[in-house]
Amino acid sequence: MFAAAHQSRVIRATSHISALHQLRSVGATSIRLKHKQSKSSQNWIQRQKKDPYVQKAQAQGLPSRASFKLQEINETHYPALIKKKGIPVNGKNKRLLQPRMNVVDLGASPGGWSLYASTQVKEGTIVAIDLLPLDDTKISLNLPNFNFIQGDFTESETKQLIVDALVQERANLVMSDMAQNFLGDSQTDALRTLNLCEQALVFSAGGSCFDSSYSPKSDEGMLAPGGSFLCKFFSCGKENEEDLMQAAKRAFRNVHVIKPKSSRKESSEMYLLAIDRRD
Ligand SMILES: C[S@@+](CC[C@H](N)C(=O)[O-])C[C@H]1O[C@@H](n2cnc3c(N)ncnc32)[C@H](O)[C@@H]1O
Repeated sequence: MFAAAHQSRVIRATSHISALHQLRSVGATSIRLKHKQSKSSQNWIQRQKKDPYVQKAQAQGLPSRASFKLQEINETHYPALIKKKGIPVNGKNKRLLQPRMNVVDLGASPGGWSLYASTQVKEGTIVAIDLLPLDDTKISLNLPNFNFIQGDFTESETKQLIVDALVQERANLVMSDMAQNFLGDSQTDALRTLNLCEQALVFSAGGSCFDSSYSPKSDEGMLAPGGSFLCKFFSCGKENEEDLMQAAKRAFRNVHVIKPKSSRKESSEMYLLAIDRRD
């Protein structure tokens, strides 16, 4: 069913990639900064050094510690949720990531989620998107049926490239680990990332799930009926998260909020997992 003929490829949608991103894409590995490191970035570096998941990712040659969060959601949280809902477990729904599925990975750089997904998906296609290039010293861009699009997901040109990469098939899982660059005010930062989640949900299930009068229209959006949606957001108050949660509940049969153990306790990051798109 899934086209084995899909080729691995790297596509660049460069129109709005900043100068820094462009520098990185041509291999610039260091940029001399004139100002001193801020206290918060010094703290971040110290935390990174001590973090056991960072150490484990380095030891295993993974692009990022994010791999462990997706692994945990896939192997622990998803099966537990299926069991709790009394949904019979079979070969097809044992894990979030299944051997035959098409996956869209939004905010993929440096490549932790993509690399983990590629160990689980054997026959489908993975389409990874980021403003920044993947770390090709850790993840091979020649993985079978793997496509990387370097571009801004919010631009219609990039969305069209995702559609094209799936060659008229629909996605079975859209996952977003996208996060906006932090500006310093945690509430503003969280709201900006929440906006990316909303855009990812519109892309997946269509904009009409944000209307209270919604009735399922599975022909809208990239996700096939029965498909799942996973996105990272930063906790910013129920009143702000409400639209996203309600829209997900309209479009999917099972909706959950997860805090993986591998996510730092002090971080406000959470994951919305919406399973089984209504048709
Ligand atoms: C936390 S990182 C993702 C880590 C990645 N999932 C992994 O496993 O290695 C967040 C990423 O979101 C990307 N991002 C933010 N806004 C984006 C946008 N509009 N389009 C595409 N990528 C975006 C950033 O460039 C950044 O690489």
